[in-house]
Amino acid sequence: MIKILFVCLGNICRSPSGEAVMNALIERNNLRDRIACDSAGTIAYHTGEPADARMQKHAIKRGYNLTSIARQIKLNDFERFNFIIAMDRDNYRNILALDVEGKYKDKVKLMMDFAIEHSDNDVPDPYYGGEQGFEYVLDLLEDACLGLLKHIVKLDLEQK
Ligand code: 4NP
Repeated sequence: MIKILFVCLGNICRSPSGEAVMNALIERNNLRDRIACDSAGTIAYHTGEPADARMQKHAIKRGYNLTSIARQIKLNDFERFNFIIAMDRDNYRNILALDVEGKYKDKVKLMMDFAIEHSDNDVPDPYYGGEQGFEYVLDLLEDACLGLLKHIVKLDLEQK
């Protein structure tokens, strides 16, 4: 089983959406017994909360149901997951800083490095912005999750 952890700041907007978009692709490609997803935040502030209501509203319009409950990333996540996907460069740096010995640095990746259509480096934080920001998060995630899925399938084929 390949395990992916999506990570943003609060774990209530971007990473729960990444998890849901990826799960939809996994379902559509009949890969549910091969790839599993989870999400976490680099801060604990929203721990125990469902996804942001605005994010949920925009996700539902595209058929994604955000079911995750916020939690903070923890040290054993580095062991448990094969890919730790940061939504932006700040979170990427903060995740790497938790891995003090640098043992797991090859598992930590930037979400937008997998995008096919978009050249943005970050999935921007939509929390303090307007409606358009939530739509743009979903646009970026649909692109980058497809790229990530293709990357994983290719790696898997190369190993066979
Ligand atoms: P997320 O969005 O990192 O995509 O979940 C945010 C959620 C909460 C805060 C910032 C960003 N906050 O400052 O509380």
